[in-house]
Amino acid sequence: MATTHPSHEANEVSEQKSGKQAAFAGTPKKVTTHVNQNEGLIFEKSSPGKKAYRLAELDVPAVDAKRLLGPVARQDLGVMPELSEIEIIRHFTRLSTWNYAIDLGMYPLGSCTMKYNGRVNEAVARLEGIAEAHPYQPTSLSQGCLQIMATLEDALIEITGMDAITLQPAAGAHGEFTGILMVRAYHEAQGNPRKKVIVPDSAHGTNPATAAVVGYQVANLKSNAEGMVDLAELERMVDEDTAALMLTNPSTIGVFESEIHKIADILHAKGALLYMDGANMNALVGKARPGDFGVDVMHLNLHKTFSTPHGGGGPGSGPVACKKILEPFLPKPVVARQSDGRLGLDFNRPRSVGRVRMFYGNFGMFVRALAYILANGPDGLRQTTEDAVLNANYIRAKLEGTFELPYKTRTLHEVVFSDKLQAKNGVRTGDMGKRLIDYGFHAYTVSFPMIVSGAMMIEPTESESREELDLLIDALKQIAQEAAESPELVRTSPHTTRVQRMDETSAARKPVLRWKAPAAKDEVEVDTAAKEW
Ligand SMILES: Cc1ncc(COP(=O)(O)O)c(C=O)c1O
Repeated sequence: MATTHPSHEANEVSEQKSGKQAAFAGTPKKVTTHVNQNEGLIFEKSSPGKKAYRLAELDVPAVDAKRLLGPVARQDLGVMPELSEIEIIRHFTRLSTWNYAIDLGMYPLGSCTMKYNGRVNEAVARLEGIAEAHPYQPTSLSQGCLQIMATLEDALIEITGMDAITLQPAAGAHGEFTGILMVRAYHEAQGNPRKKVIVPDSAHGTNPATAAVVGYQVANLKSNAEGMVDLAELERMVDEDTAALMLTNPSTIGVFESEIHKIADILHAKGALLYMDGANMNALVGKARPGDFGVDVMHLNLHKTFSTPHGGGGPGSGPVACKKILEPFLPKPVVARQSDGRLGLDFNRPRSVGRVRMFYGNFGMFVRALAYILANGPDGLRQTTEDAVLNANYIRAKLEGTFELPYKTRTLHEVVFSDKLQAKNGVRTGDMGKRLIDYGFHAYTVSFPMIVSGAMMIEPTESESREELDLLIDALKQIAQEAAESPELVRTSPHTTRVQRMDETSAARKPVLRWKAPAAKDEVEVDTAAKEW
């Protein structure tokens, strides 16, 4: 594999930048550029013998690592960077300025719900008794942590209208996997696991993947002209071999399935279950409860709806809530009140699908989600939902006409345009997403959902003020104008970043994930994984 030496890359970048002043056709209102564009690798800054510490002379006999560790003791650490403390701090601080973050600016990534993570969540998660708790601590010393879990469970059950819950799954897709395992266990207990799971074409991509991983055939259900489930088609497809329908609601085009009751009835009439991908619950919290509209099992993305950090900012958490009929199959252990009135962990669950994660899930995320729920309270949570929907509709109203709106159905928390108007000039959704970076925003979601050709999916979330939304709207209008007047400018964007257009196929298929010492470089230039491609 040919590797690019970083200093070559840096040269290319400064050459590319000489034309930067000409990069803006109009006067952008918002532009944020990186503080420091060029930073070599830490290995390139290394000088032999430099240290970031000074230790006192040993006043006890040195221990021979080989004697202590035997054959596992490493003889040679390979080439390691040697720097002073301030060099290390500056290196990583400069690198950190290349990151785009929610604390830096808006992230209109549809489907991802990149909302602001309130500082109160972080303050609570850092309290000593919480941050220092250990999963092997006896339950008698973990009553506070167990109470946090039990209180969060109660709050999520109340919000979703379901009967029982597990906090174990580590992310949304993992929650889906857990929920469909429970569906399978339920049908097996009835004597037949059934064969297929129906997934609408407007579902999140993880839904069909989950059904397949659990061993089901995936039956694809085409949406109707409003982007919703076609009831007649569903009725035709559901039979005694159907284990469940996996429905993302609101769907990935931000549309609420208004006939959800009828969908549930059609499934239940054939003994099939309704799984709801509840990752988009930020459009429903405080307004509608899946348990009240016929859902049997669902997952939540705490890292979307309940503001815990994600996308490089922290681990996810995907609790699964279910109706009574599925409760016996929940992963074990479950948090339970013991006969002495204390909280404990109940492992005695013979019909459980088993453990899906070590320990009890991503505990730090439970703390943050509970802090968010309690800080908002029921009225605050409802207001959050309303603001998220209002913001998406504001963007829709302001940009309809500038961009094509393929589905006119009412928008909830996100809005999906297409690049149809700009494609006439050869400018596609990916080009405009990249151009948005020049205007100081993260790109919107490009080319997803797949039922919209050239999709431009925008989810502003409730975090953004009207002023920030107006800046985004301005930037997108200006980009649309550029696409009409100087399409090449958009097609070759971004122009203000450290590196510009990547070869995305090679980046995905032949990633260079590790630095190799120059002496060894010839040997490793082609690695085996890359060779296969
Ligand atoms: C609707 C929907 N379902 C499922 C997922 C998967 O969640 P995760 O990325 O936590 O696995 C997402 C993620 O954004 C989503 O938006």
